[in-house]
Amino acid sequence: MDFKIEATAPHTNARAGEITTDHGKIPTPIFMPVGTVGSVKAVHMRELRDDIDAKIILGNTYHLYLRPGLDILRNAGGLHKFNGWERPILTDSGGFQVFSLSSNRKLKEEGAWFRSHIDGSKHLFTPEGVVDIQRVIGADIMMALDECTPGTADLDYAKKSLALTQRWLERGWKRYKETEGLYGYRQAYFPIVQGCVYPELRREAAKHIADLGAEGNAIGGLAVGEPTEKMYEMIEVVNDILPTDKPRYLMGVGTPANILEAIDRGVDMMDCVMPTRNGRNGMLFTRNGIMNMRNKKWADDYSPLDEGGAAWVDEVYSKAYVRHLFVSQELLAMQIASVHNLAFYLWLVKEARRHIIAGDFKSWKTEMVERVTRRL
Ligand code: GUN
Repeated sequence: MDFKIEATAPHTNARAGEITTDHGKIPTPIFMPVGTVGSVKAVHMRELRDDIDAKIILGNTYHLYLRPGLDILRNAGGLHKFNGWERPILTDSGGFQVFSLSSNRKLKEEGAWFRSHIDGSKHLFTPEGVVDIQRVIGADIMMALDECTPGTADLDYAKKSLALTQRWLERGWKRYKETEGLYGYRQAYFPIVQGCVYPELRREAAKHIADLGAEGNAIGGLAVGEPTEKMYEMIEVVNDILPTDKPRYLMGVGTPANILEAIDRGVDMMDCVMPTRNGRNGMLFTRNGIMNMRNKKWADDYSPLDEGGAAWVDEVYSKAYVRHLFVSQELLAMQIASVHNLAFYLWLVKEARRHIIAGDFKSWKTEMVERVTRRL
């Protein structure tokens, strides 16, 4: 994997760059749609590629390991062959999902024990094991096993949690260095900075990770219950230390405004279920604000869903029709909302990139943050 920076924006830490993987190039900053089980929910691969123009999608080690399982994925020739997505894929390591989805989970020195949310079977994720699993999945970017410390943890817990994540990182890194991909292309391995809301822990974590010399670095444990201003402060603290010549990936964030503020602070990659999950519930993000499509006010509004928007669905369907689909619980409502929201998120980061290169990112961002947070 290679990364080159093309431009930086005055009075900010924002950068425009390009990542090169063996499955293609990724312009940065970039938003990565989430495809947990190997499918971005309600969106065809062709829409994802041709309409939304996603450059990279996410998969989840936790889900893919449990179902369809490693034999099916290995025999398919990896996830790209299995789901038909020929562009880059990043997989999360499973640590976060073990905590949000499984039951009976226990953290031990050796790894994370958990019971499957599907059938209750017992499993162990070790730092080495999740490297091996992600080798079988064939992700272009693999993530280290970590504990996503809750935003409300006290200093003592956060310290112990970070120390464990750091020991796991050393083990996972060693396995990564000792192994290679199964399918003939390169795979990168990103460590994850934890440390909760404590600047001194975040600094220590970022230094440890900077010394490792990975091809890219991630910031985790944010948007997990801490105030938004704390999240921005932690991003600043960490990005002061993480290498500037490597991509920085902020995990699981966020709203359009969060994305713009993260880019301002030097983040290059982001993912979040919000555009798809909230979209399926009727929440549409636009460059003029947020719409709840179930709202009665749209019942007889025959204007385009989002005039001048980035997706073809924005002009073809009316607000009244999409509201009708949501109220009638039609599957098409979820498909339209997912395409719209993902196209908007991809448009937003593309615009951010354009303004970074043009040199007016700061003023554009300030105005945009105000616009995208309005309620329509
Ligand atoms: N997704 C969102 N936050 C996190 C995190 O802290 N760790 C991991 N592995 N995934 C995440």
